[in-house]
Amino acid sequence: MPANCDSFTVASSVGDYEVRLGRGLLSDMAERHPDLIVVADDFFRDRLPVAAERVIYVPATEDDKSLERMAPLIGRMHALGVNRGSHLLAVGGGVVQDVATFLASIYMRGIGWTYVPSTLLAMTDSCIGGKSSINVDGLKNLVGNFYPPREVAVDLDFLHTLDAVQIVDGLCEAAKICYAKGDFAGYLADGPTVSSEPEAARAVVARALHSKRWFIETDEFDRAERLLLNFGHTFGHAIESGSNFAISHGVAVGIGTIIATSFSLQNGLLTKAGEEATAALTGHMVDLLAHVPGLSDKVAALDRKAIVGRFDSDKKHRADMYRIVVPVGDGALELRGVPRTEDGRALVAAAFAAGLDRVQNDVR
Ligand SMILES: NC(=O)c1ccc[n+]([C@@H]2O[C@H](COP(=O)([O-])OP(=O)(O)OC[C@H]3O[C@@H](n4cnc5c(N)ncnc54)[C@H](O)[C@@H]3O)[C@@H](O)[C@H]2O)c1
Ligand SMILES: [Zn+2]
Repeated sequence: MPANCDSFTVASSVGDYEVRLGRGLLSDMAERHPDLIVVADDFFRDRLPVAAERVIYVPATEDDKSLERMAPLIGRMHALGVNRGSHLLAVGGGVVQDVATFLASIYMRGIGWTYVPSTLLAMTDSCIGGKSSINVDGLKNLVGNFYPPREVAVDLDFLHTLDAVQIVDGLCEAAKICYAKGDFAGYLADGPTVSSEPEAARAVVARALHSKRWFIETDEFDRAERLLLNFGHTFGHAIESGSNFAISHGVAVGIGTIIATSFSLQNGLLTKAGEEATAALTGHMVDLLAHVPGLSDKVAALDRKAIVGRFDSDKKHRADMYRIVVPVGDGALELRGVPRTEDGRALVAAAFAAGLDRVQNDVR
């Protein structure tokens, strides 16, 4: 194993898997296992230390993680001789992760795989937890399953080619996970910065993964505690899709946490200590979001009425209740029901207005 590499284990119902965090991990693996079949983000074409004929490249777009695109990829795997005893290596961000999880889980009823996340968002968040989400008929993340890799190798050298927005995407998710775990002060002490220098991110990535591990080991199948990681997501998804994806996922989640906090403030859900705790979080989010070029204008261009409509149709709500994760009391997160009435919708719209106004005015 290369020097200066941390490692820990994640327990799951289908077996434990190891997570390694370090540098040079992909090259090391390619050297030790020259026979691996690789599924990789098209961005890495001709840039991987792996024989080209052993790589299946997948462009990282939403269309490429659709059910219709799976059959040709399965055909490619078969043509490359992948069999029951083969092991797949996936290199890429969340799109490649979703595709590889799904392919590994169904190919010959399941083969082993290793994941090397290449975006900061995947390194801090999605690389552990074992979920896949596949689009069908244009409907995002409609089908999927749980099928964790045998091993996750978080290779910080992949940060070099990420831009500021991709770094902010990852830091917003990392901040959210650590806040949800009650470890936001520890996260801040790690000195999160918008930099693509690998060592700048090491401590934050490690802390976010350790926090996320607690949630997925406590609640592997999203029934209680893990749902708190949806903090910022119900509001964020409405913004992400309402902007036609001009606002990226992590950035939308960062904005979503500010909106969720506005909801708590407007409805008197926080104590004085809770107001201070959430102010530290939202202040940090605003600082991160200020690194996203043109964000204020993108937020100004949003059709706010349509955004509330998108929030309303989120599949996570119940027939009679909106379901949102908000900070309450001293700042801890809680899954709350808000009546799905005219009054409830007005409360949600007011929170969107306050949160979006703040982002629009403060991130200039
Ligand atoms: N399975 C899960 O648990 C899970 C969790 C969260 C999100 N997701 C899914 O992940 C997707 C978003 O993932 P993402 O934000 O990690 O990225 P992504 O896979 O969508 O990639 C975003 C862009 O970054 C590029 N890229 C990847 N690595 C790079 C690198 N090292 N340097 C430069 N460019 C690089 C890609 O080519 C692409 O253009 C969504 O489809 C989302 O639904 C899945
Ligand atoms: Zn997310």
